Amino acid sequence: MSKQSYRIVALPGDGIGPEVLTSALLVLNAVRELFKVDFEVEEIACGGHYYVEHETEWPEGSFEKCETADAILLGAVGHEVNGRPVFTKPGKPYPEPQLAGFAQVIGNRKKLDLYANVRPVKLYPGVKHKIHGKLVQVWDPDKVDYVVIRENTEDAYTGELQTIEDGRITPIRITRSATERVVRYAFNLARRRNKQNKVTCVDKSNIIGAHRFFRDIFREVGEKEFPDLTLDYAYVDAFCQWQIRSPEWFDVVVGPNLVGDIVSDNGATTAGGLGLAVGGNIGDAHAMFEPIHGSAPKHAGKDRANPMAAILAMQMMLDWLGDRHSDNRLSNAAIAVETAVADVLKEGKTLTYDLAGDERAARCSEVGAAVQNKLKTI
Ligand code: NAD
Ligand code: IPM
Ligand code: MN
Repeated sequence: MSKQSYRIVALPGDGIGPEVLTSALLVLNAVRELFKVDFEVEEIACGGHYYVEHETEWPEGSFEKCETADAILLGAVGHEVNGRPVFTKPGKPYPEPQLAGFAQVIGNRKKLDLYANVRPVKLYPGVKHKIHGKLVQVWDPDKVDYVVIRENTEDAYTGELQTIEDGRITPIRITRSATERVVRYAFNLARRRNKQNKVTCVDKSNIIGAHRFFRDIFREVGEKEFPDLTLDYAYVDAFCQWQIRSPEWFDVVVGPNLVGDIVSDNGATTAGGLGLAVGGNIGDAHAMFEPIHGSAPKHAGKDRANPMAAILAMQMMLDWLGDRHSDNRLSNAAIAVETAVADVLKEGKTLTYDLAGDERAARCSEVGAAVQNKLKTI
C-alpha cells in the first residue's frame, strides 16, 4: 500500500559520511517535489566521533527509530583520533572492543535481520578508471554488470572474540538458516534479472570447513528449488582475478559475509571505484542503504568525496520502497535518479577528483547539485 509520507532515518556517521549523505538528501528533496511524494527525514548523529564525545554510539532510542522507519540511509562510520581508529571500550556496550559505529552498521544489519547485502557491480558509460594514477578506459560498460549478494549477519562478523594463551580467536559462524535464505535471495534475483540465469558461489571451502557447509547448502537449495539456473562455483582467491580480468562471466554472485565484503570492493575497481559503489542491506521487514565505502578520513571535511555512491544508495532505497509499497511514484523516481546519475557521468563535466582527476575535479556538493538539476530535466 502506498503511503502518504515515508519515514526515513538518516545516519550521517563519520568522515565523508555526512558530506555524501547531504548530497543524497539534496537529490531526495528534488524527488519530493517532482514526484509528489513526501518523506519525513530524521537525521541522527552517530558513529565514532559521537562515541568520543558521549561514550555511546548514538542517542538513546535511536535503534528504535531505525526499527520503526520505512527505510534507513547510512553515510559511513569510522573515526580516527591521532591517526588511529576509535574502538569501543570493553563492556561498553559490547563485551569486546568493536569499531565505534558498530551499532549502526553491524548492529542494524544483525538486529533488523538485514540478511542480504546487495551490492551491484555496474559500470556506467563514460566512467574512467584510475590506474597507475591516470584516468583510462579499461573495462567495457557492456561487460561489467553483476550483483554481489553478501550474507550479512554471521561468518566472521559476530563480534565474538576468544582470548587464548598465545593470541585471539575470532570464530567463523555459518548456520543453515542464514545460508538458506541468502542463497534463495541470490537465486531469485538471478531469475528476476533473467540475464545469464547463473549464480556463482564464492567462498574458501577448500580450506574453511564452515565455508564448505555454505557451499553444500548453496548446492542443495539450488539443485532442488532452482533447476532452471546454472550453479557455478569459485574459490575467492581465484575469483578476485577473474573479477578484474573477465567480469562478464558473472551474473549473480553469493558468498559468506567477509568474502562478500572483499569481493564487492574489488569489483568496484572495474566500475569506477568506491565513489560509485553502493549496497542495500535487505531483510524481510526492514532495509538500510549505504555506499559501500567507509569514512575515508583523509578526504573528510574537504567537500571532495564522490557523493554518487550515496546518491545511488538513496536511489536503491526508492526502488525498494516502490516495490514494497506498490508505489509507482517511487519506482519511477528510482529510474529517473539512476538516469540522472548516468547522464552526469556520461557528460563528464561535473565529476569529483576520483573520476575527473584533481585538476578538473568538481566538489562533492557540486556533483549533488548537478544530479539534482539533471533530475529536473528528466
Ligand atoms: P574507505 O572506503 O573509507 O576509503 C578508502 C579509499 O577509497 C579512500 O582513501 C579514497 O581514496 C577512496 N574513497 C572511498 N570513498 C570515496 C568517495 N566517496 N569518493 C572518493 N574516493 C573515495 O576505506 P578505509 O580507509 O579502509 O576505511 C576508513 C574507515 O571507514 C575505517 O574506520 C573503516 O573501518 C570504515 N569503514 C566503514 C564502512 C561503513 O560505514 N559501512 C565501510 C568501510 C569502511
Ligand atoms: C562494509 C564495511 C563494514 C563491513 C565495516 C565498517 C564493519 O567494510 O560495509 O563493507 O566490513 O561490513
Ligand atoms: Mn567493506
